[in-house]
Amino acid sequence: MTTTHSRVLRADLLSFEGDPGEDDIPAEGSVRHIRDGALWIEEGRIRAVDDHARLAPELPEGIEVIDHRGKLIMPGFIDSHVHYVQLEIMASYGRQLLDWLNDYAFPEECRFAAPEHAEAQSNAFLDEMLRVGTTTAQVFCSSHPASVDAFVSASHRRDLRMLAGKVLMDRHVPEPLCDDIRGGIRDTERLIGDWHGEGRLGYSLTPRFAPTSSRAQLDATGGLMRNDPGLWLQTHLAETPSELDWVAELFPGSRDYLAVYEQSGLVGPRSTFAHGIHLDQQMRGRLAERGANLAFCPSSNLFLGSGRFDRLAAREAGLTITYASDVGGGTDLSGLATLKAAYQVGQLCGQPLTAWQGFYGLTLGNARALSLDDRIGRLAPGLDADFVVLDPAATPLLARRTARSRSLGETLFALMILGDDRSVAETWANGRCQHRRTG
Ligand code: GUN
Ligand code: ZN
Repeated sequence: MTTTHSRVLRADLLSFEGDPGEDDIPAEGSVRHIRDGALWIEEGRIRAVDDHARLAPELPEGIEVIDHRGKLIMPGFIDSHVHYVQLEIMASYGRQLLDWLNDYAFPEECRFAAPEHAEAQSNAFLDEMLRVGTTTAQVFCSSHPASVDAFVSASHRRDLRMLAGKVLMDRHVPEPLCDDIRGGIRDTERLIGDWHGEGRLGYSLTPRFAPTSSRAQLDATGGLMRNDPGLWLQTHLAETPSELDWVAELFPGSRDYLAVYEQSGLVGPRSTFAHGIHLDQQMRGRLAERGANLAFCPSSNLFLGSGRFDRLAAREAGLTITYASDVGGGTDLSGLATLKAAYQVGQLCGQPLTAWQGFYGLTLGNARALSLDDRIGRLAPGLDADFVVLDPAATPLLARRTARSRSLGETLFALMILGDDRSVAETWANGRCQHRRTG
């Protein structure tokens, strides 16, 4: 749409400087809110963030000023765990995890052997992400290297900051998805060489979960991680009770599910474990000690009936939580929908999520947990110009509700409960408007 030269957006600005805590009132210094602010961007970066009145005299004559007064600009949303290859099996009826994988996910992923299919799905997925204000995600591809090439090429063409990887699986899956150990590792090494650190891309090692990898494959993945500590790692952990039983059967030498990953050296500060619902406090403590994070995927947990995630128990253990859609198990790509589901799950656990904690999570919280906060997650000079323009009056109902808000906290809460893709007026990435809502 628009090019990357210097321009200013005038709107309310909201960015987190730190964790706001769990109270209704955010911790001192954790929130930066500028009413009638100016966001000056140049060559894909943020150049300045200030009151419009204060910045205006410093702006070069004739610079384009985009007037978004009445709207709220926040850093682009981050999704810490999502499967692009499952876009079209969202909303597949009526199964818990292991049946759902066999009935829907694996057959669908077989289709990604075809590069044309992978390319079409990559573009459809990125269009949908941008429509809901998500500018960065950590993404599962399929077992096929071509599925990674297609996804990261499409992301690269749009200058998006993305983490992605080829799924590693060498057992208990249909033959077309099954790696031989050496081949899977060789493909992974090739993909790392081609894409890790290329433009805004990072490679995430992706053993699917313990039941679909042999010990040898997990060990080989741990070897890649040891060789390059700059790589990310994504997998699943303790999502459902039947999965736990299966893992105990498959790995009798491991004292629990987490130990299976520990023994292969897969638990580190760049490791994201999706779900982690069925863990005890001691396991949460072990994850925290290594600086790993759990991806809380509330809409998926509700859809697949996987269980209630105990967010505060993780917090108590010092374990970092990220927020994720987990599409296609998840029912919505929107970060707003993820926060709504997180609030609902929280209510069932007697731990309702504040809007402050939720929006911190979608932005700076996820960026920090993924070690991306030197580039994204805040509106601050020098950081990448990835942001979302939210319209708190996007629909007649939202307009009615937010007109009655007595505080920013109330408006944010209304957005996370009533908002959807219609609340996203624009999504900018690398200094370019890449989605504009029409109609
Ligand atoms: N566990 C292993 N694979 C998957 C997957 O594709 N989705 C979810 N929700 N859980 C998994
Ligand atoms: Zn998942």
